[in-house]
Amino acid sequence: MQKKKVCVIGLGYIGLPTAALLANRNYLVHGVDVQKDVVDTINKGKVHIVEPALDTFVRSAVFSGNLTAHTKPAKSDIFIIAVPTPVSANTEPDISYVISATKSIAPYLEDGNIIILESTSPIGTTEDICKILKKNNVNVDNLHIAYSPERVLPGQTMRELVENDRVVGGITEIAAKKVKEFYKTFVKGDVLTTNSRTAEMSKLTENSFRDVNIAFANELSIICDKFQIDVWELIKMANRHPRVNILRPGSGVGGHCIATMGKNL
Ligand SMILES: NC(=O)c1ccc[n+]([C@@H]2O[C@H](COP(=O)([O-])OP(=O)(O)OC[C@H]3O[C@@H](n4cnc5c(N)ncnc54)[C@H](O)[C@@H]3O)[C@@H](O)[C@H]2O)c1
Repeated sequence: MQKKKVCVIGLGYIGLPTAALLANRNYLVHGVDVQKDVVDTINKGKVHIVEPALDTFVRSAVFSGNLTAHTKPAKSDIFIIAVPTPVSANTEPDISYVISATKSIAPYLEDGNIIILESTSPIGTTEDICKILKKNNVNVDNLHIAYSPERVLPGQTMRELVENDRVVGGITEIAAKKVKEFYKTFVKGDVLTTNSRTAEMSKLTENSFRDVNIAFANELSIICDKFQIDVWELIKMANRHPRVNILRPGSGVGGHCIATMGKNL
């Protein structure tokens, strides 16, 4: 049987592990990044980011011939967009990378193709992808477009890509079904289907939940410091309540997934 071709746009912390995993599952992966040095590094079978086990996956993916990296997309069966979606200086979500990634794939799309947005995105971004494609003379009626956020924990990415449950929000029910079928070829976790807006909101809700709960633990530590109370002992006591589960305080909140605007750390 002919190998399915997947084009992964953005070869960073999400795109490269996804591309390498798929290539190891016998998909033919055309990876794309705008940074030429990233493309050159990957084509040598090497990695430019630190993630346990990723180097082994990339090496075998490249040397098997199933993963090649490029600066331009190519015709494929499935397109995965995993580009950055930072928060701008005025605290607005910046989807300019998603817009340019969408425009870059427009010339390569054919009827029946699947497009999946994995970047953390504001509500309506998946619908925006349809609008951008229409403006670029693409007939979206025969494409299957969906949003599926990534939930992996850096340091555990290769395991969590396979084991985590996923949410898939389709522009149509058929799109959600097709995208679920694709993920089920390599995801052991459950794949839950919904519409694109609910899936987008689900990711934002998950991040907000984490942000609020981390902030709560950190605020507690500041208060405890002021009143000479041992915050660790306090949390241990409070967590003996059957419905309380306070996180451990840390140096702040942020990292790959939760935007900080650079002022709260
Ligand atoms: N890193 C994580 O742990 C994590 C977890 C969950 C969700 N996310 C989300 O996933 C998305 C990607 O995050 P990341 O950490 O992989 O980012 P990243 O910065 O590590 O990688 C993104 C890559 O996309 C490339 N790129 C930018 N514009 C492009 C374009 N138009 N065409 C091709 N390549 C382009 C960049 O050069 C970069 O290499 C973000 O929305 C992020 O919020 C990240």
